[in-house]
Amino acid sequence: MKILAPSILSADFLCLGEQVSTVVKAGAQWIHCDIMDGAFVPNLTFGPAIVQAVNRCTDVPLDVHLMIKNPDLIIPEFIKAGADYITVHAEEVVHLHRTVSLIRDLGAKPGVAINPATPLCMVEEILPFIDLVLIMSVNPGFGGQKFITSSLDKIRRLDTLRQKKGYNFLIEVDGGVNENTITQLSDAGCDVFVAGSAVFQGNVTDSVQVLKEKLRNT
Ligand code: DX5
Ligand code: ZN
Repeated sequence: MKILAPSILSADFLCLGEQVSTVVKAGAQWIHCDIMDGAFVPNLTFGPAIVQAVNRCTDVPLDVHLMIKNPDLIIPEFIKAGADYITVHAEEVVHLHRTVSLIRDLGAKPGVAINPATPLCMVEEILPFIDLVLIMSVNPGFGGQKFITSSLDKIRRLDTLRQKKGYNFLIEVDGGVNENTITQLSDAGCDVFVAGSAVFQGNVTDSVQVLKEKLRNT
């Protein structure tokens, strides 16, 4: 099952509820929430209050991507707000097994993200304990950036490792996902596709349907 997870980072915040309903109606299966603190990444976005508001307007899974320092402190608030998946960055969390256990003990599904220059070996030991690996295909912080093509080979290697070990985590990709990159990402083994600018710039319904059609044909 290939999952499209529009990132509300690129949505029109003046009509966020309407935009969320539109993408879900058009066929998006998850909503991706990019949380940034201006410290781990050079941008500042939103917190649990917005996740809670989104949770009020849809029943689809909320996929919360924490690009923040010291995520343990605020993870409980995001889960209370309705987060279904909580993804933390391996580059930031020193005690990753403890944080992953915290997310699961509080009732959400844990994910781990790695930036483009971070090797897969950084997450090898945590793979048996998580439900999602997020491969960043841009340097995190902003929407609308150029896709980093080396992410494709990284995804292929992760999928090979997953099959070899019989792991059942999902592979998610985030950054520069659009109609020109989504097919090769799917062929490389990706399951979940985060798209911000490709969905919310232009006609939202048409954009979702173009990406969904591409996924149906892979
Ligand atoms: C990190 C964010 C972005 C966003 C996707 O910067 O996680 O990657 O979700 O943005 P687009 O789809 O516009 O590259
Ligand atoms: Zn993200």
